[in-house]
Amino acid sequence: MHKRVLVTGGAGFIGSHLVDALVARGYRVAVVDNLSTGRRENVPSGVDFHAVDVGDALHLNEVFEEFRPQVVFHLAAQTSVRRSTGDPAGDAATNVVGSINVLEASVRTGVEKVVYASSGGAIYGEPDGLPVREDHPVRPLSPYGLSKYVGELYLRLYRDNHGLRYSILRYPNVYGPRQDPYGEAGVVAIFSRVLLAGDRPVIFGDGRQTRDYVYVADVVEASLLCLERGDGGVYNLGWGREVSVLELLAGLQRVLGTRVQPRYDPPRPGEVRHICLDSSRAREELGWLPTTPLAEGLRLTAAWVARAG
Ligand SMILES: NC(=O)c1ccc[n+]([C@@H]2O[C@H](COP(=O)([O-])OP(=O)(O)OC[C@H]3O[C@@H](n4cnc5c(N)ncnc54)[C@H](O)[C@@H]3O)[C@@H](O)[C@H]2O)c1
Repeated sequence: MHKRVLVTGGAGFIGSHLVDALVARGYRVAVVDNLSTGRRENVPSGVDFHAVDVGDALHLNEVFEEFRPQVVFHLAAQTSVRRSTGDPAGDAATNVVGSINVLEASVRTGVEKVVYASSGGAIYGEPDGLPVREDHPVRPLSPYGLSKYVGELYLRLYRDNHGLRYSILRYPNVYGPRQDPYGEAGVVAIFSRVLLAGDRPVIFGDGRQTRDYVYVADVVEASLLCLERGDGGVYNLGWGREVSVLELLAGLQRVLGTRVQPRYDPPRPGEVRHICLDSSRAREELGWLPTTPLAEGLRLTAAWVARAG
């Protein structure tokens, strides 16, 4: 019998790819998502879908009581750095209180393990050196980075107090199909849309800021490995390689055959200048390595944006 797996945020960008992969492997899957940024059509048929807010403990508990998940992937979150700065309490309501509600419901209904989507890009702050390892001090620059980290601390508390098993994945900059091309983050999808429309993309800052870009299927693979491994572990996911926004744009222009000059706007507050993640621990303990080269990931993403219109 395959396990019953619940994915919070399963209608969103990364969550929906995870749901697809779980369904393809024969798991029974339920999704909890309030559709604030996710889309109902991202969730495949045959999946129990619940339009529930993780801040709504009552209805969340009902879903857990009914579905009785064995494993929970907790991805539902307020994911905007900018919104978190404008409304830190709203950010915490979803990312802190929502996470507590997920953990409470998990303990109450005997969930075996929670796999948590944390952020390697937002919790370390401006790093002391690169690539960043998991034992680097945590110094978030935004309420979002802080609230994602607080979720990690609650997981540890629930393990100690209730025996709830967990794995924490600290994601890099994830990109791929279904990332919102009209969003404020998700630079690959946004640049693809703008270039396909024949417009000039906007770069915030000088374009020399760097990130560690990993294709969504690789992040999903790490999540699946946590079904069998990685108990009590916190894992950076990344190539350990910095890619600047200018390099990314050049790569996309190669894929799309465009030669457009970007426009420049002032840098955005709350975002780090340089980050890339050392994922040796994920390699050693989970057996995880990213496999989709950047050029291939950019091609797949741009093709999706072109199709999605
Ligand atoms: N995309 C990245 O590069 C990245 C990097 C680091 C961490 N993460 C983490 O990965 C997870 C998924 O992010 P994503 O990029 O797929 O973003 P996303 O916005 O596409 O997904 C988040 C999902 O959660 C849902 N959601 C939001 N608030 C909710 C609430 N209160 N109740 C129920 N559902 C709610 C949204 O509708 C959406 O479907 C998040 O936890 C995010 O913090 C993402």
